[in-house]
Amino acid sequence: MKLKEYRLVLLSGALIFVASLAWGHGDKKHQDSPRMSGHMAEMYQLKKQIPEEFQIMNRSPVRPDNESLANGKRLFGQHCAVCHGAEGKGDGPAAKALNPSPANFHDLKHSAIYGPGEKFWIIGNGTGKTGMPGLEKELTPKDRWDLVNHIYHLQGTAE
Ligand code: HEC
Repeated sequence: MKLKEYRLVLLSGALIFVASLAWGHGDKKHQDSPRMSGHMAEMYQLKKQIPEEFQIMNRSPVRPDNESLANGKRLFGQHCAVCHGAEGKGDGPAAKALNPSPANFHDLKHSAIYGPGEKFWIIGNGTGKTGMPGLEKELTPKDRWDLVNHIYHLQGTAE
């Protein structure tokens, strides 16, 4: 094969790879639902902004042991309960003023739209226009994983 042809084959291979990544993106089941609310659409909009490496993570790299859960609970009371409520039901004192309302972590169907890596990313970067601040500067990565563990603990699914 001539060098020029070889390059062409490589280039088209790379293009097919990139296109397949774009097609494979997102959760088709939810996206195709004709009854998807504007709010769900916004959640998927946010999901698209989250880097791939966080989208594909399916568990927290920090073990949800007693120390992690205690730290997560403490930080949740300090930084999150004002909006999400002490028990994570989305009913904190600031919740009424926010549209959309802060996530209720006990609504498992809603919360499952974001996996552990995506929750971690959201805690660091916020939700953009929906009113949740990013706390990347205030919280170390370990703190943010402890918070993710705490959320799954509230949902009864922390391993
Ligand atoms: C100013 C109010 C506010 C504060 C403070 C806040 N959030 Fe949020 N949070 C929101 C709003 C609003 C949303 C978007 C809800 C939606 O899209 O349904 C949200 C969404 C989320 C989500 C994505 C939804 C889900 O179920 O996975 C996570 C995770 C989250 N918050 C975690 C936290 C954590 C942890 C803290 C504390 C470090 C925190 N938030 C602090 C308002 C807040």
